[in-house]
Amino acid sequence: MSRLLIVSNRLPVTVHADQGDVSVVPSAGGLVTALRGPHERHGGLWLGWPGDLARLTEEQRRDVEDRLEQLGAVPVHLTSAEVSRYYDGFSNGVLWPLFHYLVEKLHLDARHNWESYREVNERFAEAIVARYRPGDRVWIHDYQLTLVPAMLRRRIPDARIGFFLHIPFPAAEVFRILPWREQVLRGMLGADVVGFHTTAYRYHFVYSAARVLGLDPDLETLAYEGRRVRLGAYPVSIDVDEFVRLARDEEVRAEARRIRESARGRKIVLGVDRLDYTKGIPRRMLAIERFLEREPELRSKVRFIQLAVPTRENVDAYAEFRRVVNELVGRINGSYGTLDDVPIHFLHRSMPMAGVVALYLAADVMMVTPLRDGMNLVCKEYVASRIDDTGALVLSEFAGAAAELIEALLVNPHDIDAVASTIQRALVMSPSEQRVRMQALRRRVVTHDAHRWSHRFLNDLERAGGVPPAVGAA
Ligand code: ADP
Ligand code: F6P
Repeated sequence: MSRLLIVSNRLPVTVHADQGDVSVVPSAGGLVTALRGPHERHGGLWLGWPGDLARLTEEQRRDVEDRLEQLGAVPVHLTSAEVSRYYDGFSNGVLWPLFHYLVEKLHLDARHNWESYREVNERFAEAIVARYRPGDRVWIHDYQLTLVPAMLRRRIPDARIGFFLHIPFPAAEVFRILPWREQVLRGMLGADVVGFHTTAYRYHFVYSAARVLGLDPDLETLAYEGRRVRLGAYPVSIDVDEFVRLARDEEVRAEARRIRESARGRKIVLGVDRLDYTKGIPRRMLAIERFLEREPELRSKVRFIQLAVPTRENVDAYAEFRRVVNELVGRINGSYGTLDDVPIHFLHRSMPMAGVVALYLAADVMMVTPLRDGMNLVCKEYVASRIDDTGALVLSEFAGAAAELIEALLVNPHDIDAVASTIQRALVMSPSEQRVRMQALRRRVVTHDAHRWSHRFLNDLERAGGVPPAVGAA
């Protein structure tokens, strides 16, 4: 069988060096969650950035490289200037906010960030060439690497190249703001298959390619530079069996019981997100405040838990955002806390998956209310973990997952009143309504898991490519 080379900015593990101690920890985020399975099954290589190894001794570095090799991981090293320009500056300071429609957060003026983005994309293309063997399939991922497909195509014209975007592709009117819009589109079109989470994102891409490059709009296939580029909607998902296994695990269940006991009869409403400004955490907090204001008799009957995983702490907008969230939580707890308890338990840390699943099992209500999210896997993880068909999911209309999980309580996260009312509605939902909704949600998540996602994409990649018919041909 041909090998699968997975290429993403971040490897499935990240190396941390802290005062002489080195740890290799699983990376957080939806991309890694979804690709772990295909990587293990296909036994190929995963190329990506391992984190900062600069402060490691020679011996520590060799040890880390051995461990990466055992995992089939090939490090692509970045200097600290590149981390600050390519990753913090361009990927997370320009593409991330633009593609999430947060135009006011864009930093467009630092041209050197774009230059660094281009150079690092070249480095990734070269790293692929160094490992490539004829017959390999190359699967490149996400907004950090949009130029790599075309750079690789130039170096290996007959390579089988797939590209998948894990974040939304914005409406053409927003995308066209990007000064480097043409390069980004041409970069992605170097692939044989370009995948998106939803048909809406695919539509935006096609319309942008028509506006910016003058291509004939076609939702399935674009004719580009003498090749056919197939476009597909492949909603990413999770390894359901792994969540079911954890949800049945005695230790995980005992931890869930402990969390419930510590809530002393209160219902638990949970949020689990990277601490990212797209995830809608401040508006969620404001909705909680509105709910507490409106429902005095429920104040002592609910506990809100927000688990927030630290992320991109060197990007200014994230540091500022963390301050805003801390202040809001402090204000609400100050107003509604008692000597016994506070309404919001805010945990700013990473946690092993077993701990996250214990929280999913303990939660009566799960709140997933991003302002915009390519897919969002947390909501699918919650559904997969609720093996007894209980619990209620409150889900933002602006998460890609809302196109699939239609039995959730769908909300507009900008509408604080509506979110506050939906919290109340979720808390009083009858067990029979919970069961009907959760069974339908579980059916969909179980049948559309990460295995199916990668299988569909790779199947299309297998069949893709070819030359478009000449104009006027029969
Ligand atoms: P994104 O890719 O933007 O981070 P997703 O919802 O698609 O968003 O994926 C987030 C992933 O990170 C999920 O698999 C989730 O379980 C994991 N995760 C979120 N918060 C934590 C945390 N505090 N500790 C560990 N993993 C977390
Ligand atoms: O899904 C978007 C994404 O950027 C992924 O590429 C990654 O899994 C996740 O968010 C975490 O981001 P970062 O790698 O910047 O910590």
